[in-house]
Amino acid sequence: MAIIKLPGLADVHTHLRVPGGEHKEDFFTGSAAALAGGVTTVLAMPNTTPPLTTPAVLAETLQKAQQSIICDVGLFAGASPDQIDLLPQLAPQTVALKIYLNDTFGPLRVEDLPTLQACFETWPRQKLIAMHAEGPNVAIGIGLAASYRRPVHFCHISRRDEIELIAAAKAAGLPVTCEVTPHHLFLTRADADRLGPWADMRPRLATPGDAEALWAHINTTIDCVATDHAPHTRAEKESATPPPGVAGLETSLPLMLTAVKEGRLSLARLIELMATNPRRIYGLPEQPDTFIEVDDQTPFTLTNEALLTKCGWTPFAGWEVVGRVQRVVLRGKEVFATGRVIAQPGSGHIIQ
Ligand code: DOR
Ligand code: ZN
Ligand code: ZN
Repeated sequence: MAIIKLPGLADVHTHLRVPGGEHKEDFFTGSAAALAGGVTTVLAMPNTTPPLTTPAVLAETLQKAQQSIICDVGLFAGASPDQIDLLPQLAPQTVALKIYLNDTFGPLRVEDLPTLQACFETWPRQKLIAMHAEGPNVAIGIGLAASYRRPVHFCHISRRDEIELIAAAKAAGLPVTCEVTPHHLFLTRADADRLGPWADMRPRLATPGDAEALWAHINTTIDCVATDHAPHTRAEKESATPPPGVAGLETSLPLMLTAVKEGRLSLARLIELMATNPRRIYGLPEQPDTFIEVDDQTPFTLTNEALLTKCGWTPFAGWEVVGRVQRVVLRGKEVFATGRVIAQPGSGHIIQ
């Protein structure tokens, strides 16, 4: 067994489901899953029920988070056409603005240009704008970044045409960044056919050529690996109308370390993608005396039973990987060790 020491990871794309989706995940179980995956900072998306688009929902969410979190958590504000005037009130206590340009879980959506313009004019320039943009909507996001001369971060880029367009935008000097998910790196449409709702998410799994293109840009265009941890219950996935989304917090590091072992990327690049770059792009605070210890040699099998996420399943069950997280130390305190959470609920910090 060989133990390596890595910085605490930052996952800039998770759905922790509070308020309104506590049967899927809550701040304690979501942050426990984060620590189990070596993640000490998570950013939580605003497509909650109700969505995080008002000061009242923000206050409720902050209060619930502060009672329960065991890693550090930052919240996204959500853009909604009828609430744009409230954005300046949300900005001081949120990390970034999330704009959904494509259909996904929940009702948050911006589909008209005046609302997009209002977002870029209203949201404070010192805080980032992140987008769920697929296909031609990536070009809209790039155009807004260019027009307003301000950074745009693209969530879960999944296709060859999209990553090549972002590469071109970067080459032109535009202030754009992007993340990819492990599921778009490691799974394709064939897995979606095999697993049905258990591998259905937005963006949908793409072709082997798309996944290959993501790997081809792993050392260049891609800035971050983020999970899009989107837990839904088994009952919901087995229903007539299964919601899109899969859990990812506890499988991301093992999958990526397995790719390191196989020579698909370097360990130094993994650290950039999963710690350094996400922290820089979102301006996340340093966590002093914080590190994780990981066994990067001994193979183990990912199972549903071992997961701490409340949903209790992963599309990667049965995969043999390396990269079991042995220990997590956050601000000098052991918070997770040998599969068990040690931290007290509420000991995590809110990032603003
Ligand atoms: O698959 C997804 N699920 N994609 C998203 O963009 C949202 C997420 C969710 O909240 O379940
Ligand atoms: Zn999304
Ligand atoms: Zn998401």
